[in-house]
Amino acid sequence: MMKNITEEIERLKKEKNAVILAHYYACDEVQGIADYVGDSFYLAKIAKKSDADVIVFCGVSFMGESAKILNPEKTVLMPDMTADCAMAHMASAEKIDEMRRRYEDLAVVCYINSTAKLKCCSDVCVTSSNAVKIVKALPNKNIYFIPDQNLGSFVAEQVPEKNIILNDGYCPIHMSITAEQVRQEKKLHPKALVLSHPECKKEVLAVSDYIGSTAEIIDYVRESKYKEFIVCTECGVAYELKKENPDKEFFFGRKCPSCLDMKLNTLENVLKVLQTGENEVHVSEEIIKEALVPLERMLELAQ
Ligand code: 13P
Ligand code: SF4
Repeated sequence: MMKNITEEIERLKKEKNAVILAHYYACDEVQGIADYVGDSFYLAKIAKKSDADVIVFCGVSFMGESAKILNPEKTVLMPDMTADCAMAHMASAEKIDEMRRRYEDLAVVCYINSTAKLKCCSDVCVTSSNAVKIVKALPNKNIYFIPDQNLGSFVAEQVPEKNIILNDGYCPIHMSITAEQVRQEKKLHPKALVLSHPECKKEVLAVSDYIGSTAEIIDYVRESKYKEFIVCTECGVAYELKKENPDKEFFFGRKCPSCLDMKLNTLENVLKVLQTGENEVHVSEEIIKEALVPLERMLELAQ
């Protein structure tokens, strides 16, 4: 059955000149059939330069939306239209306006995990792999970082010369990881290095040996001489980590954190959208025009 689905996906991909993009948090089978698997930044760059007619985006809605904004002439399909990121909604246009009134020299820095409407109110987008670099490069002293408080506070530590105003958004999946859990894992695996995503709480980052995006964590493990790692991020990264490093061991805690929205992407619904063309992402022309500005600025500043 699985082989038939995979073969049919391959056939339809060729017939429709489609490309499949998957985030590292998608389930193993979906990562297995994707043409490109990566972190949010890598996938945004791939979406921008792809010459396929159809992009099937196995991620959550802000990713499909960003792909469409970067490629308005392409068809972007989501295997499941309900796959959303809770954090993407955790900021408000009214609060942004208020901050702009309060600080004359304000740059609104918007984590890509945000709705297109929030991007429209922002000066530049960032992802977890380029946020520090981009904030450093901005001429503004005052930065309002939305929506994620944890990535924002990580950036604030790395760029002390700026005044970074935090918003109160968060990722419920990364927020569920505690420093106490990390300490427990460390007792069980004293030789392991602790690798964390910057969406984790400050107290978790404080007990980590390395902090980076999903792709940066994967790169770090590839280069490391260590053999054991305690990984503080969503469980989907285990697929690539194990595939690339069969000689290394990974520990995600007793209950590996899982983003259920990312897991809504399945082989069955990838096949279905390729067959039917259903679940097309639509973004209004007006929103595309406004949200493209911070997205393109990100691509430019992250070079
Ligand atoms: P990265 O893809 O930048 O590692 O971010 C993780 C994430 O939460 C995506 O939803
Ligand atoms: Fe959003 Fe968190 Fe899921 Fe990433 S892991 S998509 S930030 S809810």
